[in-house]
Amino acid sequence: MSMAALPPGDPRMKDQIAVIGAGLMGHGIAQIFAAAGHKVALYDPDAKILGSANDRIAAIFKLLEQDAAGIANVSFHADFAAAVEDADFVFEAGPEKLEVKRAIFKNLGAQTKPGAILCTNTSAIPIGQIGAEVADKSRVVGTHYWNPPHLVPLVEVVQAKDTSLATVEKTLALLRAVGKIAVHVRRDIPGFIGNRLQHALKREAIALVAAGVCDAETLDNVVKEGFGARMAVLGPLEQSDLVGVNLTLDIHKTLIADLDRTPGPHPLLVEKVAKGELGMATGKGFRDWTPEQAAATRKRLSDFLAQSARELAKKKR
Ligand code: NAI
Repeated sequence: MSMAALPPGDPRMKDQIAVIGAGLMGHGIAQIFAAAGHKVALYDPDAKILGSANDRIAAIFKLLEQDAAGIANVSFHADFAAAVEDADFVFEAGPEKLEVKRAIFKNLGAQTKPGAILCTNTSAIPIGQIGAEVADKSRVVGTHYWNPPHLVPLVEVVQAKDTSLATVEKTLALLRAVGKIAVHVRRDIPGFIGNRLQHALKREAIALVAAGVCDAETLDNVVKEGFGARMAVLGPLEQSDLVGVNLTLDIHKTLIADLDRTPGPHPLLVEKVAKGELGMATGKGFRDWTPEQAAATRKRLSDFLAQSARELAKKKR
């Protein structure tokens, strides 16, 4: 059938998507596009993970109260070439290991259509290194989703040295069209924007607890019940403008020199990991966790994010 003969809204009119890796992030990324009417080919080399992907994606449709018929847009592949050959966009969500990602991109460079856009969901590896063996590097771009990708609105679109602006713009447009809040990160720097901010805060949080200023629970409450309570609607620079940039300067003059500058990871963090205090998984991290408390915290987060995502989806309908 020619494209012109397709009825409006037919998934074949939309860009075809391939997702590499059906793990925690990959199945959520696949769901986002399937729900928006794109054909999605999902690949994973692990038969068990691939075999469970349909049910995990179906659970997201249910959680978000979306039409479950959308799952028919997803096809499941153990054959890499078959998954990617027709793709207009590929989203890679494989393991966070440079050599694995580089090999995946080498294959993508050879096995996708010329001009297909190749996106990586890496958390921290430079995009340029991941795409090093792709002949046409202008089509390699970072798309950093946040976990869970189907619930957190933001995607950071990261432009590496060789990424073309056209690739960035097409990727931003696709993500925005499926309801994501996509932003352009103009340089391929470690942690992009969001993780740099998150870890700047964690650095000071750990230092305050290590110095005995407060315990971990108090620290968390100061964030959640204090400035964190307004952060979903007021970013830090908006807030500076609201109170006055001059006030921010006055506070910085007193404060900045006193903030933590430990070179490298804080000794308290290193010590906790060495002692096996890894957090909820081991029952103790910065705070103590019973399995019930850990489950309740996970549920609180998931309920909160799902409710926000459902409200956002309803507003857009
Ligand atoms: P995961 O371990 O749940 O999923 C990775 C999947 O890749 C597995 O299903 C595995 O079978 C598959 N895989 C293994 N070897 C492969 C290969 N050679 N080719 C293709 N697939 C292969 O990991 P997760 O958490 O989904 O992370 C995926 C990527 O997303 C990583 O780069 C990670 O850093 C990034 N990311 C993770 C976030 C998180 O909170 N989990 C947040 C943002 C980014």
